[in-house]
Amino acid sequence: MSQLFTPVRIGRLSLPNRLVMAPMTRSRNSDDGVPSELAITYYTQRAGAGLIITECAYVSPMGKGYVRTPGIATDAQMAAWKQVTDAVHAKGGRIFMQLWHTGRISHPSLLPEGALPVAPSAIKPAGQGWTPVGLQDFVTPRALAVDEIAKIVADFRSATRRALEAGFDGVELHAASGYLPEQFLSSGTNQRQDEYGGSLAGRARFILDVLQAMVAEAGGDRVGIKISPEMNFNDIVDANPQETFTYLVEQLRGLNLAYLHVALFGAKLDYHALLRPRFDGAYLIGGGLDQKSAEAALADGRADAMVFGGAFLANPDLPERFRQGAPLNVPDQNTFYSPGAQGYIDYPFLSGTNAA
Ligand SMILES: Cc1cc2nc3c(=O)[nH]c(=O)nc-3n(C[C@H](O)[C@H](O)[C@H](O)COP(=O)(O)O)c2cc1C
Repeated sequence: MSQLFTPVRIGRLSLPNRLVMAPMTRSRNSDDGVPSELAITYYTQRAGAGLIITECAYVSPMGKGYVRTPGIATDAQMAAWKQVTDAVHAKGGRIFMQLWHTGRISHPSLLPEGALPVAPSAIKPAGQGWTPVGLQDFVTPRALAVDEIAKIVADFRSATRRALEAGFDGVELHAASGYLPEQFLSSGTNQRQDEYGGSLAGRARFILDVLQAMVAEAGGDRVGIKISPEMNFNDIVDANPQETFTYLVEQLRGLNLAYLHVALFGAKLDYHALLRPRFDGAYLIGGGLDQKSAEAALADGRADAMVFGGAFLANPDLPERFRQGAPLNVPDQNTFYSPGAQGYIDYPFLSGTNAA
């Protein structure tokens, strides 16, 4: 019998199945970071997931890193998200919000008054980012002062409160993919000599402070964290990722988090075998899964739930398709981040309609 369709407890929630929709930035929001009515349809169509994790939302305007990404920092943003959570709940679904600060992976054209992006240290990332004026080289960020770090930690706490007020069942810290939390954690991006750097404990402090602030607001059982060891996205490098992630995950224990979400992209080391025994909440695996590999990982006891990105993007009724062994729609990369309904809410259901 397929374990994908057995219930599982994640923090306060009981999920009817173990299929989780991955957080996916879709860039369909207003320039002010307010989700549109299309977001209500998009997420409601996918309410059959055991759990939806939303696209990443910035905790403050300085945390924005891409065009048309949403926030959870203003009343207008909250009100729009409330419509999304109400609609998903009315369809019987469960939904967490992913929270981020992109740190150096931003651009003055995206930030208040053309500010420089901020980071643990003034180290420019290689590469380019999407801005209102197209692809632009990243810039050298400004290193944060300690009192500014405390302010960002407080922003994560208020964003958590706002997310809960907007009806989310919980929040996930985006500590993957080379954004601010991973910039603090990694030796290549953190050259600080104060309490937020200098040693592994120092580099991990920002993530742990942020999680503590989120837990203080929501309770550990409504907080998750996503990491992606050795993904090396956004020019992130660490001298000893095995040691770094082992330490970080060991420090999570006292927080009683709902889950640890680990997305792997070709790392040679078996991080799931390394990290799962060190964590006390639910363990979620993501990255390049299909139904077969997801079933196998569950059967082997390697995880509690399985996270699907592209497959959920293109198949609003993914659980039903897996249940029936039905063919899958293929994601169209050209519309991943383009504005409008196309490639967002028009992937067909098995029934051949777009209706939820
Ligand atoms: C269009 C798109 C946008 C994404 N945006 C985010 C994001 O906002 N936050 C995040 O943690 N991961 C993001 N990801 C990564 C996914 O959450 C997931 O880890 C990745 O797609 C691997 O899963 P898959 O192979 O099942 O697609 C994104 C992926 C895609 C395809």
